[in-house]
Amino acid sequence: MEIKDYVAKLSAAFALGSADLSAIAIAFKKALQEGLAGKPSPLRMLPSFIADPTGKEAGEVLAVDFGGTNVRIIKVALDGKGGSRIENILKFPLKAADGSYDHVSAKAQGDELFDYIAAKIGEIAPSGTMAPLGHTFSFPCEQKSLNSAFLIHWTKEIRTKGVEGKDVTELLKAALARKGVNNAKPVAVINDTVGTLLTAAYSDSDADIASICGTGHNTCYLEPRHPLSGKPMIVNMESGNFDAVPQTQVDAELDAASEMPGRQKLEKMVSGYYLGEIVRLSLRRMRDEGILPACPALEERHIVRGMDIDSILIDSVDLKSTRAFASERLGLATLEMSQLTAIKTINDAIALRSARLVAATYAGTLMLIDPELKRRHSIAIDGTLYEKMPGYGANISMALCEIFGDKAKQVKTVLAKDGSGIGAAIAAAVAARASP
Ligand code: BGC
Repeated sequence: MEIKDYVAKLSAAFALGSADLSAIAIAFKKALQEGLAGKPSPLRMLPSFIADPTGKEAGEVLAVDFGGTNVRIIKVALDGKGGSRIENILKFPLKAADGSYDHVSAKAQGDELFDYIAAKIGEIAPSGTMAPLGHTFSFPCEQKSLNSAFLIHWTKEIRTKGVEGKDVTELLKAALARKGVNNAKPVAVINDTVGTLLTAAYSDSDADIASICGTGHNTCYLEPRHPLSGKPMIVNMESGNFDAVPQTQVDAELDAASEMPGRQKLEKMVSGYYLGEIVRLSLRRMRDEGILPACPALEERHIVRGMDIDSILIDSVDLKSTRAFASERLGLATLEMSQLTAIKTINDAIALRSARLVAATYAGTLMLIDPELKRRHSIAIDGTLYEKMPGYGANISMALCEIFGDKAKQVKTVLAKDGSGIGAAIAAAVAARASP
């Protein structure tokens, strides 16, 4: 097959037209309704036991933001008027670059992992007082109350033993006790999407959906009348597990080789952890078809990084960045323009698909909470894809316009930078207000 025909075929497999987007949105809305009603659904619809903050929460609180292999602990001052100030921040990896420790591999134990985090909390906790601590734990959890969350299973390829099935608040409390840290009291545990929504809603009353488009992917929304309480409550949809999505052969290949085949299908098509891998596997197919020359680098997992995708996306007609990527990352220094064009076409199609799929799920959520789009909605988004990937936000907006037409003007997406951490602080302040 001619190079351009092959590339057209491969990129068409990643393309989603307006009708596809609407169909996905409708399927998403159905899954949402079924999940909320307790029927079998790919959407877990996990209750958070928290609704909007009042904006009046105040005081100095600690927040632990554990969402992947990097953890952040922050000390936040909430001013009681919708404002927050980060007073101190400590960031650290759970896996050392030099291999000296790794708390996220299959050999690691939960107690060691939480001891490591607890000791770091001890470094930042204010002395002489007991600070309420909010914990953003960004994995699917069965939440029993605002301060109790049982990990259902790890995502984002974390494999630490002895955490699945356990209440992460109890694990953290036990670790704080073992480490002698007695000036921080865990009072709330939330998902990062929930933290992002709390942060946005602290100062924007239109915010009712929040999403993470980063290493992982997930969305939550404010359910106006939750079946458990009959009152408003934020629901963590765990939308990364949505599965009514058209998978390509490349997606199926990636899924089969992942930690949890069959799970997190949407996440594996859209999130930062996997996008580079989708590009790599697509380029590997092109190599196998003879479109690219022999290339051992394409056997190496994660050889294609987020920053490579970004630089190819904004490449100019001379394809200088794509050439640099091929030469420096893949060791292919003598590609022709047609081959470089093929690489860029596939790269761009994969990035575009991510934004459009995510937008379709936002549309499905809006169809549930406000079918006529009578009100204004802010969708608060955090994560590197939304923040840094060229065109990502614009592509989401474009897709929403295709689905809703003129009414899409009622919907805006906003960056909620560091929302997940500050949200944990807000949740801690909400909990501390409820039971001082
Ligand atoms: C997790 C979610 C989380 C998302 C974004 C997913 O892998 O299952 O709980 O919200 O990543 O961090």
